[in-house]
Amino acid sequence: MVRPSKFSMAPLSVLLPLFQFLAPVASQQVIETDVLILGGGMTGVSAAHSLYHTHGIEDFLIVEARHELGGRVQDHQLGNYSVEFGANWIQGLGDNPIWKLAEKYGVKNRYSDWKKIDYFTERGWDGEDGPLSRAVDRYEEEVYPQIVADAGRRKELGMSDLSLRAGLRMNGWTASTPEEWTAEYFLHDWESGEPPVQSSYIKSVESYNSTFVESGNATNNIVIDQAGYKQVILRHAAEIPNINQKVHLNEVITSVSYTNSSVTATTKSGLTIRAKKAICTFSLGVLQHSDVTFSPQLPSSKLEAIANFHMATYTKIFARFRPEDKFWNETEFWLYADPDERGYYPMWQPLDIPGFLPGSGIVFATLTGQQAIRAEHQSDEEVKREFLAVLRRLYGEDKVPEPVEFTFPRWTRDPLFRGTFTNCGAGVTTEQQEALKAPVGGDHDRERTLWFAGEHTSRKHFGYLHGAFREGRSSAGEVADCLLRGCQQSEETLIAKRDAEEFMDLSHLGKRKRMYVPDYV
Ligand SMILES: Cc1cc2nc3c(=O)[nH]c(=O)nc-3n(C[C@H](O)[C@H](O)[C@H](O)COP(=O)(O)OP(=O)(O)OC[C@H]3O[C@@H](n4cnc5c(N)ncnc54)[C@H](O)[C@@H]3O)c2cc1C
Ligand SMILES: *[C@@H]1O[C@H](CO)[C@@H](O)[C@H](O)[C@H]1NC(C)=O
Ligand SMILES: *[C@@H]1O[C@H](CO)[C@@H](O)[C@H](O)[C@H]1NC(C)=O
Ligand SMILES: *[C@@H]1O[C@H](CO)[C@@H](O)[C@H](O)[C@H]1NC(C)=O
Ligand SMILES: *[C@@H]1O[C@H](CO)[C@@H](O)[C@H](O)[C@H]1NC(C)=O
Ligand SMILES: *[C@@H]1O[C@H](CO)[C@@H](O)[C@H](O)[C@H]1NC(C)=O
Repeated sequence: MVRPSKFSMAPLSVLLPLFQFLAPVASQQVIETDVLILGGGMTGVSAAHSLYHTHGIEDFLIVEARHELGGRVQDHQLGNYSVEFGANWIQGLGDNPIWKLAEKYGVKNRYSDWKKIDYFTERGWDGEDGPLSRAVDRYEEEVYPQIVADAGRRKELGMSDLSLRAGLRMNGWTASTPEEWTAEYFLHDWESGEPPVQSSYIKSVESYNSTFVESGNATNNIVIDQAGYKQVILRHAAEIPNINQKVHLNEVITSVSYTNSSVTATTKSGLTIRAKKAICTFSLGVLQHSDVTFSPQLPSSKLEAIANFHMATYTKIFARFRPEDKFWNETEFWLYADPDERGYYPMWQPLDIPGFLPGSGIVFATLTGQQAIRAEHQSDEEVKREFLAVLRRLYGEDKVPEPVEFTFPRWTRDPLFRGTFTNCGAGVTTEQQEALKAPVGGDHDRERTLWFAGEHTSRKHFGYLHGAFREGRSSAGEVADCLLRGCQQSEETLIAKRDAEEFMDLSHLGKRKRMYVPDYV
């Protein structure tokens, strides 16, 4: 291998001007568009769909680094089966727009029964009514209803936020045994990606309320479509005429500069795109790592908000066994209370069970927080060793063979994501949530040119696909109003914003809101 040296640099710099002279068009090309959408995940696609179908804007482009649209909705082939590396559930049915899209596009999903759990400790199966099962029941039935009311009361009285850990303690939950660690893990960390001490008391409960109570149906469905959960996004995009001409794939944005009148983005390959308005949908993790340079620098209120929210980590680890080696219970979830370490391989799910992917031989475990980050820094072999050792505690040393395949995504190490989804720490305020999403470019509303949207900008549905979807629509509405109506808010945008924020009373809009719903599905 030739190592670069100051000698090898000199001839190169001499050659450069000649090279530029030979290929001026490709490297200098500037593409002009009205609206530039940075990132082609759920938010970017929902914004594009709304620009076109709600506001009649046809001149827009999506620039995406990956080879396809979908972002954090990605599947992976294991044997002849596809499994979801990213988003997997439709959380809360009822009013959830993702549920409506999945129905519309026939994306296969099924009821995920959180009551069907087998409990395990280091001693193996913990039976129907062991200490772990009792801890889960106590958290769910006694403690949780109390904290829902208590956090609500704090919010109502304008009292300061606390960590969920403090809130739990004040309601009699001290989490002092491995069984209690695992119960709270199942009912909190597994949803939010971080432990109670790192989570906001008020926002955790608010998030639960808005996704599982206000949607009108607290059911969760797991997507098992063999064409992937991403079909929700791909099919939504396909409803935009000539979408292929509006999407640039495999283009990594390196810098974004904005003024009072335009936004210019450049890509690694040398593409320059100039737009009147832009919507940046990169993840909170990408913004935190300065993977993309913004000039001028983003305002300090936004930088503070970016720093203050958490990009959590939720890592699913998959093994495919020979179906004939089947050693597992056909129960949807296995919960394991490790005696020494909280969060050490606590959540397991077999997919090779009736109604899911029978015959696939696939079992997966989920790690979150620090345990997930640790695994992402180990080799596949090291993680496989730990994974199998825990499985052997569950089912017996001699019952669990080597899998034929073993794989997992490393979300925190991927520069396009840098983690999995947003969690709010104790004390996060609504003002900070506003700063995270506030548009920039100019001093007042008329001049804004660059908007920010994504699951992280959702005040009540952060972390979820339905949050991303709604943020895409409401940001597209604001952009369209500025492009077409001198930033005068249209009724469509008002409704999209209310649908996204759900802080305001929607009841007087009831009928109109319902009329509006078929528009996005
Ligand atoms: C493991 C995991 C499990 C999850 N489980 C669920 C679940 O069960 N239910 C649920 O509702 N939600 C779940 N989520 C959350 C859900 O996936 C996200 O909320 C949603 O997909 C976010 O969409 P987005 O468009 O805001 O962001 P993204 O999907 O991150 O879209 C942003 C896009 O920008 C692109 N990009 C980044 N940097 C650049 C660059 N420099 N240049 C060009 N393009 C770039 C990325 O490739 C990406 O496509 C999960 C997420 C993960 C990762
Ligand atoms: C996949 O399916 C094909 C055709 O049914 C079969 O021949 C092959 O053995 C399967 N592969 C695996 C890994 O199961
Ligand atoms: C959550 O909703 C319940 C009603 O279902 C309400 O009593 C409580 O105050 C809410 N909590 C928060 C934090 O919003
Ligand atoms: C929730 O929605 C699902 C799917 O439509 C339905 O089967 C279920 O009965 C609903 N549950 C409630 C409590 O409304
Ligand atoms: C689950 O697996 C354990 C260990 O193999 C076994 O003892 C137990 O009976 C199984 N439970 C069910 C419900 O099948
Ligand atoms: C944007 O406009 C404001 C006032 O209209 C002006 O003060 C500011 O300098 C402008 N910013 C840029 C970057 O042009």
